[in-house]
Amino acid sequence: MPKLTFIQDDGVERTVDAALGGSVMQAAVDAGVNGIVAQCGGNVMCATCHVYADPGRLDDLGPMCSDEDEMLDCTASPREVSSRLSCQVTVTEDLDGLVLRVPEEQE
Ligand code: FES
Repeated sequence: MPKLTFIQDDGVERTVDAALGGSVMQAAVDAGVNGIVAQCGGNVMCATCHVYADPGRLDDLGPMCSDEDEMLDCTASPREVSSRLSCQVTVTEDLDGLVLRVPEEQE
């Protein structure tokens, strides 16, 4: 099972087991990672599952759909080149060891 490390806004690092085929958002929510709100439940309608992925590993995350791209313009914390909506990133073996930073604000 791939492991993902979330760096919360308070600086605490949380390494979690992520189920293959699930979303990065669900792995964070299931593990109680602080700051992944996921208000819309993964329907690309809220942007409260915003994360900053390791900029060196963006290719591992898979492509971004146009809905995600548009919603990333609505995040509470600034969009960066490494910004993704974690509900739109599917967990694969390629993600093992990935580090994701949780933004300061989500709402
Ligand atoms: S959970 Fe709402 S956009 Fe990801």
